[in-house]
Amino acid sequence: MYPDLAGKVAVVTGGSKGLGNAIVHRFAEEGMSVVINYNTDMNGAAQTVYEIEKLGGHAIAIKGGVETEEGNQALLDAALENFGGLDIWVSNAGFETQNHTHEVSLDEWNRQIAVNLTGPFLGAKAALNYWLPNNKPGNIINMSSIHELIPWPTYAAYTTSKGGLSMFNKTLAMEYAESNIRVNAIGPGAMDTPINAKRFEDSSVRQETESMIPMQKIGDPYDVADAAAWLASNQSKYVTGQTLFVDGGITLYEAFDGGKG
Ligand code: NAI
Repeated sequence: MYPDLAGKVAVVTGGSKGLGNAIVHRFAEEGMSVVINYNTDMNGAAQTVYEIEKLGGHAIAIKGGVETEEGNQALLDAALENFGGLDIWVSNAGFETQNHTHEVSLDEWNRQIAVNLTGPFLGAKAALNYWLPNNKPGNIINMSSIHELIPWPTYAAYTTSKGGLSMFNKTLAMEYAESNIRVNAIGPGAMDTPINAKRFEDSSVRQETESMIPMQKIGDPYDVADAAAWLASNQSKYVTGQTLFVDGGITLYEAFDGGKG
């Protein structure tokens, strides 16, 4: 637990399920008020608000696409109107599709760039335009991936969006460091969330993935939520422009284990 987080206000995009939902719950446990953005999963968002309020916390669910300026502005407005401010912005929403690159349609490409990369840009822009004129400190956390580093054939749009997000984070961190605004990313490895549900239904695929992870297991969404809470808190006050990989060691290049290569 991080005592400085109590009473802080956060926006979490894609917060109705998966990693975003774990972050929402973790933030609420810290005593934060949370604006939960969802795109289609109204039930998941409403259920989360219900669970948080039942425990005496504060949350509100707001529908909207993160790929639009209005969608992000509505989240900021909800934070200000309902909770009186904004301290932390988490751009978590994202998705991936698999296809050989020569068969990826322009629409499929554009949609992933729009949600995974333009979404965090628009979220950061909305938050910065609140923090800067009001002279407030700020904290942005963007959900990247191990694939900001590791190429993944047949997922070119996804890897490109996360690689771009990595440079966006670093650039923003440098640009606004003097304004007391920190910008970091989390780079999850393979986590147990709906994005992977279909893939891991096949136990051989799950085993194959686990064999690529030094810690030999798929991650729990709460592992990512713990990282988000730390980045949101003052415990990380001297950290900016970084990607915190939460990946069981997958970015350590398992293929070289035991001196191979
Ligand atoms: P998920 O599929 O469970 O959740 C993604 C969320 O984003 C959903 O709530 C979905 O509705 C929302 N979303 C999609 N398009 C949206 C839009 N246009 N506007 C608003 N919300 C939208 O996936 P998961 O695993 O929780 O992923 C969350 C983030 O973590 C994504 O950015 C993903 O790329 C990243 N990630 C996930 C990993 C994993 O193994 N689960 C690994 C590395 C990164």
